[in-house]
Amino acid sequence: MEKTLPYSWYVDPAILEREQRRIFAGAWQYAGHLGMLPEPGTFVTCTAGSMPIVVTRARDDQLRAFLNVCRHRGFPVAEGSGRRETLQCPYHAWTYGLDGRLRAAPRSDEEPDFDVGDFGLRPASVDTWGPFVFVNAAADPEPLAEALGSMPAQVEELGLDVDSLVFYSRWETELEANWKVVCENFLECYHCQVAHPQLAEMLDVSVDAYALSTDGRLSSQRGPVRDGGGTRMHLDGELSRSQFHFLWPNLGVNIFPGRPNLSIGPMIPRSPSRTYRFLDYFFGADVGQEWIDELLAFDDQVGREDRGLVEGVHRGIASGALEHGFLMGRSERLIGHFQQLTRDALAE
Ligand code: FES
Ligand SMILES: [Fe+2]
Repeated sequence: MEKTLPYSWYVDPAILEREQRRIFAGAWQYAGHLGMLPEPGTFVTCTAGSMPIVVTRARDDQLRAFLNVCRHRGFPVAEGSGRRETLQCPYHAWTYGLDGRLRAAPRSDEEPDFDVGDFGLRPASVDTWGPFVFVNAAADPEPLAEALGSMPAQVEELGLDVDSLVFYSRWETELEANWKVVCENFLECYHCQVAHPQLAEMLDVSVDAYALSTDGRLSSQRGPVRDGGGTRMHLDGELSRSQFHFLWPNLGVNIFPGRPNLSIGPMIPRSPSRTYRFLDYFFGADVGQEWIDELLAFDDQVGREDRGLVEGVHRGIASGALEHGFLMGRSERLIGHFQQLTRDALAE
């Protein structure tokens, strides 16, 4: 049987530091939705992994992203979100346009060779897929469309038009587990029959019915609705089956059967043993409140079950009792794929 990554990789701060540099520094990260930047003259702060970012929509209507760190001495230039023509650093009031250019710095006329042109905010990158906003801490990364691979096409094929989705709510949590443990839990449904009774009532999670596929950095799981239902959820609607996508390194996208719905969010390492996770829920404009409440209650239950699982796994791994675990070749092949991509990225 295939071995997992060494368990030391889940607890060693030096490995996380390497992951930050080799994996996250140049990775597109889901940050939020276009409704956060509704019109020219708005900005919103977010992170690309753990890198602080500010996204702006200046008067020219262009989306731009910058590292949210003042070029003077490092204070964040923006906080939260808002409508404003400039970003003024609260520390010494250096003032930047929403295009990132430094407009003014108090007492800079006293400095013999101070050139505002030298101190613009460091550019990062921003792009969108439907209403979904992605950021990248790198100034010139691969195009987002390339990074997303076949995910948009697969979602479209299911019959879900992402442009018609409306943001509903954001769910946030922190988990006492390494980010890879959280991703790996997302990547297999071998545990579904055992740990998620409600999910297993809804979807056929048996090894033959529950389809797993990989395509580049994308891993996809497609579960058909169980014959005869048996679930409390009302699954009639446009979407006949579920799609759960994972885009390496750390993005999860969930679509449940029934009415138009999608939730999307990253798993972000805070420390070797702590992961921040958020999930933005979107629904079709006509989806009724009752159905939304049903889905959120269902997903909340699954989420609570998963919390117990990943935190338990992390305790076992961090105990140092064993050097590694094993992967079930068929049911856990998406984890094998995730671990290979991670291994390759760290080895380069
Ligand atoms: S750190 Fe921003 S103005 Fe000084
Ligand atoms: Fe789970």
